[in-house]
Amino acid sequence: MPKDPLNGELCGPRHVAIIMDGNGRWAQARGRPRLFGHHAGARRVREVVEACPGLGIKYLTIFAFSTENWKRTQVEVAGLMSLFKRYIIKETRTFAENGVRVRFIGDRVRLDAKLIELMDQLERETADNDLVHLTVALNYGGRDEVARATKRLAKDVAEGKLRPEDVDEETLPKYLDTRVLPDPDLVIRTSGEARISNFLLWQSAYSEYEFIDTLWPDFTASELERLCKSYGSRERRFGAVPT
Ligand code: FPP
Repeated sequence: MPKDPLNGELCGPRHVAIIMDGNGRWAQARGRPRLFGHHAGARRVREVVEACPGLGIKYLTIFAFSTENWKRTQVEVAGLMSLFKRYIIKETRTFAENGVRVRFIGDRVRLDAKLIELMDQLERETADNDLVHLTVALNYGGRDEVARATKRLAKDVAEGKLRPEDVDEETLPKYLDTRVLPDPDLVIRTSGEARISNFLLWQSAYSEYEFIDTLWPDFTASELERLCKSYGSRERRFGAVPT
């Protein structure tokens, strides 16, 4: 991992966001149903979370289910929902004991009550952890998030808590689901598609992007390390000229 030449500290990405794509194709290539690929994908999450501290990644945000994913077959949607429940039950202890703080972003309205209860419980049980902040985007869409944030902001204006003339670039992020998180430094999408598919639209305005061919169930900690190294060797200018 590259070090900052001035202070010798790691200068890889502090916040990595991942669009975990390619589970379906991975399963199809093996002649198996799509859910087989999702299960294999879920197993990869742990390896990636465990690699974060060593790579200097403090925040990891993963796209587990989008607002558009409801359009998949009923079998696949139900299978994914039950996978999320089982995953939370299985991993809660590991996250709690290993310093991982878990948060969920997205709209909970369409999720079933049992899943919401498990999500709340996982958030509560890991609330004091600070080694890695894992954020799982579930029923998440960037446009939906901005619309929900705007609704809350408009309500504050209507109630006289916020003046319209005070609304600026700093205001909206305070209403987003990600309000306690820094913006992502690096967004990775697996499986060869070069799209951001409604993920962290506002937050990734200045992020670096890596679109890689690996299908998510084949993604490894060493591939993450390679991407972090290549991030550290690039210069981010945020629209400014080089000095
Ligand atoms: C995209 O692959 C993946 C998803 C829609 C689901 C992501 C879920 C997981 C990786 C598993 C569970 C995660 C957690 C946090 C337990 P795709 O189905 O679109 O693949 P394809 O493009 O090859 O069809």
